[in-house]
Amino acid sequence: MKVQIMTDTRFGNGTKLAETLKGKFPDNYDVKIADVKEVSAEKVAEDVPDVIVLGGAVRMFMGDKKTIKWMKELNNCLKKSGKNIKYGTGFLTHALPTDKVQGYAKRFLEKINNTSAIEKTYSELLTARVEGQEGPILPEEMEKAINYAQSFITWCE
Ligand SMILES: Cc1cc2nc3c(=O)[nH]c(=O)nc-3n(C[C@H](O)[C@H](O)[C@H](O)COP(=O)(O)O)c2cc1C
Repeated sequence: MKVQIMTDTRFGNGTKLAETLKGKFPDNYDVKIADVKEVSAEKVAEDVPDVIVLGGAVRMFMGDKKTIKWMKELNNCLKKSGKNIKYGTGFLTHALPTDKVQGYAKRFLEKINNTSAIEKTYSELLTARVEGQEGPILPEEMEKAINYAQSFITWCE
């Protein structure tokens, strides 16, 4: 199984979270991490991963605009080639308390769910609160991420 984890990070918290998720996948999964600013949707669409994790951050009271744009491009590229990705989910890092970002999380997950080239979307988006604006991710949020990864991987299997 090929897994592609995408981030849009400024201070490295998204990458840290992606690495934590990667570490939970069994050895028979080939997991790659890339930033949407560096790797094009076209390239990932050519690779056709089995699993995609679309990560970003809440900024300026919005879910991640760059990742959402990238997700649309991915869908267009996959549709053109007639290929699908089997499983999808996502994550958002944020500075606000967790209960204040549930709306962003819901809308971000809906966007993944509406990406027609992703066949099945996991029922929950991972959110991870950072300390201040720049992080690091709070320790209890890292624990939450580990549990989330385990549930998500079980769901994919
Ligand atoms: C310009 C800017 C705007 C931000 N706006 C918000 C916001 O509206 N709500 C929020 O919870 N966090 C906000 N943050 C904090 C980011 O969510 C935080 O920097 C990010 O999650 C850290 O992850 P990263 O290191 O992967 O970029 C903002 C950060 C920046 C730099």
